Order: sequence, then C-alpha cells, then structure tokens
Amino acid sequence: MTVPEIIRKKADGRKITMLTAYDCLFARIVDEAGIDIILVGDSLGTVIQGHTTTLPVTMDEMIYHTRIVSRGVKNALLVADMPFMSYQASAADAVYNAGRFLKEGGAAAVKVEGGSAVGDRIKAIIAAGIPVMGHVGILPQSVHQTGGYKVQGKDEPSAEKILNDAVMLEDAGVFAVVMEGIPESLAKRITETLLIPTIGIGAGIHCDGQVLVLHDLLGLTPQPLPKFVKQYAVLRGLFADAVKRFKEDVEGGKYPGNDESYH
Ligand code: KIV
Repeated sequence: MTVPEIIRKKADGRKITMLTAYDCLFARIVDEAGIDIILVGDSLGTVIQGHTTTLPVTMDEMIYHTRIVSRGVKNALLVADMPFMSYQASAADAVYNAGRFLKEGGAAAVKVEGGSAVGDRIKAIIAAGIPVMGHVGILPQSVHQTGGYKVQGKDEPSAEKILNDAVMLEDAGVFAVVMEGIPESLAKRITETLLIPTIGIGAGIHCDGQVLVLHDLLGLTPQPLPKFVKQYAVLRGLFADAVKRFKEDVEGGKYPGNDESYH
C-alpha cells in the first residue's frame, strides 16, 4: 500500500481501513488481515505505557516502537505519529524528527496533530519529501488546552474552524486527514469538501475510512471505552481467565503434568 493508492481509494469510492499497532506481533496480524494503514500511534502512551495522557511519549520511544512494528509489516502503509514537542517548537525540529521515522523507524509517512497552528511545520516536512497525514477534531496532545477529550465542532464557529483547518491541510499537501471526535454531519461536510481521504475515529459513517486503536477493538483496554469504540472481541476476560487457571494449576500441583514434562 502506498500514498497514491490510499488517495486513489477515495477517488474509486473504496473505504480505507486503518488500525494502530505498537509491536511486531500485533502488526503482523493486522497486516496479514489486509488493513490498509498501520499507525504507530502516540496512544501507546496511554494504551501500553500506563500514562494518563500521550504527552510524556518521547521521540526515542516512538522510533523504537515504529522499528519493531515495521518488522511485521509487508503490505500496509506504515505511518508514525509525531509525539508531543517533536514538531511544535520549529520547522527544523519537525523535519529532523519526521526524517528519523523514515530513516530509523522504517515508516513511510508521519501523522501530525493540528491545523493552521502547525501549517508551516507540515509544509516543511512535505517539502523534505516526507508524506504527512493530518489530524483535526479532538487533539489529544492539546488536552490541557481543551480541558479533556470532548467532542469538537459542535457549534458553528468551531465547526467552521475545523473545516478550514482541514482545507488548509489539503492545500499544504497532506495525503489524508484523521478526524477525531466530531459530529457526523461535520465529518460528512469535510469529506465532501476535500479531494484527499478523511479517516474517522468517532466521526461517523460518512468518512472515507475508519481508524480504531487495536487494543480497543480487541477488548483488551479496560472499561469505560469511548462511545465510538466497537469491540470485535473481548480478550481481556479471556487473558485474565487463562492467567488465573495457570496460577491455580501451579498452586494445586497440576502443572506441569505428564504431557508437559520431558522423560
Ligand atoms: O495515537 C493514536 O492512536 C491516534 C489514532 C487514535 C488516530 O492518533
């Protein structure tokens, strides 16, 4: 899967699928299932590192996870998330850090949160030959500014701002835009306005594609989950049960049995 193929999918009216992965094992499963885009999201901070926000995630941690994910990816487009403060301070930082994802991580593209506020940094990354995916709506890296992960664009002025940001991102040259936590009607408006694909998470059915955090889809993350998550499996309970049965077997002298022992 390549950037031009992703753009072509929208033109052909074919939906785009995208999931997160943070390691090679999960990435291989997602890749072999035929998902179009694998995102090494900075959501790894909350999903697997135990942080309460994505803000503490560092460039070196993202590079490590992107590199191990890349070993499991044969077909999908591999996109890496630019973590907090890897692009905010200057265009030079943005280009240098985006370049690291391609050189050291094996990614094909990067994702950057924000609209007009980071337009010059996005243009600089694209000018360096690095494809960029935009991200509007809920911006988890701005959680302290917005006061939480609240649905964005509910009133007309903020809807207008998100639409304008998406148009600005397209003009800047991004190849796709993630729209997180916005009303379905606004997502439809943006999807109809842009030529590049929109990929929704909590943005309704009218987007050109959908993205979810893999651990949410698999039912591994603890409740409560956001309204937009659909669990396609409930693995957390299965894992807990397997671990409990192992403990009981060891404590009860039932494991290892004859079959699991060398003779
Ligand atoms: O970090 C992440 O996983 C993301 C997706 C939820 C789009 O940005």
